[in-house]
Amino acid sequence: MKRLELRNVRAYYRLLIGNREADVRAVDGVNLEIRKGEILGLVGESGCGKSTLAKVMLMNINPPLFFKGGTIILYTRSGNSLEISKLNREKLKKDVWGKHVAIIPQEAMSALMPTLKIKRIAYDVLRSHNPDISLDETVSLLTKRLKELGLPDYVVDRYPFELSGGMAQRTVIAISTLLNPEILVVDEPTSALDVSTQKLVIKTLWSLAAKGIIDSMVFITHDISVVRQIADRIAVMYAGKIVEVAPTEDIIFDPQHPYTRGLIDSIISLEPEVRKRGLRYIPGQPPNLINPPQGCRFVDRCPFAKDICRKKEPPLIKINNDRLVACWLHVKG
Ligand SMILES: Nc1ncnc2c1ncn2[C@@H]1O[C@H](COP(=O)(O)OP(=O)(O)OP(=O)(O)O)[C@@H](O)[C@H]1O
Ligand code: SF4
Ligand SMILES: [Mg+2]
Repeated sequence: MKRLELRNVRAYYRLLIGNREADVRAVDGVNLEIRKGEILGLVGESGCGKSTLAKVMLMNINPPLFFKGGTIILYTRSGNSLEISKLNREKLKKDVWGKHVAIIPQEAMSALMPTLKIKRIAYDVLRSHNPDISLDETVSLLTKRLKELGLPDYVVDRYPFELSGGMAQRTVIAISTLLNPEILVVDEPTSALDVSTQKLVIKTLWSLAAKGIIDSMVFITHDISVVRQIADRIAVMYAGKIVEVAPTEDIIFDPQHPYTRGLIDSIISLEPEVRKRGLRYIPGQPPNLINPPQGCRFVDRCPFAKDICRKKEPPLIKINNDRLVACWLHVKG
């Protein structure tokens, strides 16, 4: 069962170069579904469009980013479906954000207002959805949520700078999920943290799902070794497109897209099966997203490129039960 479905979704940044307009095609024809009850990892190199896609999943789109086209459908717990790509900002804010889909942006921790206590920050968040809520009600909701996530209740009376990095990140997680959204999108939640704190944050995220506070999660990172600890499936993004989606273990041990293979081979892994293949890196750079190649976007870095790869874009196709790959090597005939 689906929770969120993206069909041929495109979102571009409009730039002015000299006196000419140019579009950065950061999300360019993405097809993806987030299933009920799953944790979906989204991985890819820096600049491939992960954070842009995260914002687009909620339709939280601000200039210079604009929605170029496609369809995004939300399937709620109560069984309704809502085409959120058709809703305006006011409606999204009132009916969707926080309640059904919440995001913890990449810059979330640094965005915590340093002059406000945690309870005030939570109060402002809740009031934006329900103007009638009181500070007392907020404190009681937040205290309960902090407890559920294993955080001490004194946090409510602290300023953000009085919390450690890991505690601040876990507090952001608690605040963002106060309204029990079906879907939580977390963008690089562990990147700025040391390994032991990363583990705590992952545990917190995992307990959100285990306790049924949220239903599905999109976990974004450039670090496959982190995402494999938590994700059920992994979607691999390259230059604005999804190139492979599969269950986590299949991505790690049996990657099918040449880019995924390069990505897996380039991580230092503790897994002997992966390590055996040796440490490599992917030579070359991702394409310029203002003027990407017309065929496969990986063509200039791919050791298996054929003629057709330069001419035509490979479709994202099902190669067996639960695997999708966009590569001409997998298209029969
Ligand atoms: N405000 C902006 N204006 C113009 N281009 C932008 C803007 N923000 C991002 N981009 C471009 O859009 C593309 C995708 O950026 P995005 O931040 O989504 O990548 P990312 O995969 O999240 O990278 P990272 O791993 O570094 O966080 C990049 O080419 C980036 O340069
Ligand atoms: S479509 Fe062609 S260039 Fe692209 S990844 Fe597959 S083989 Fe390589
Ligand atoms: Mg990012």
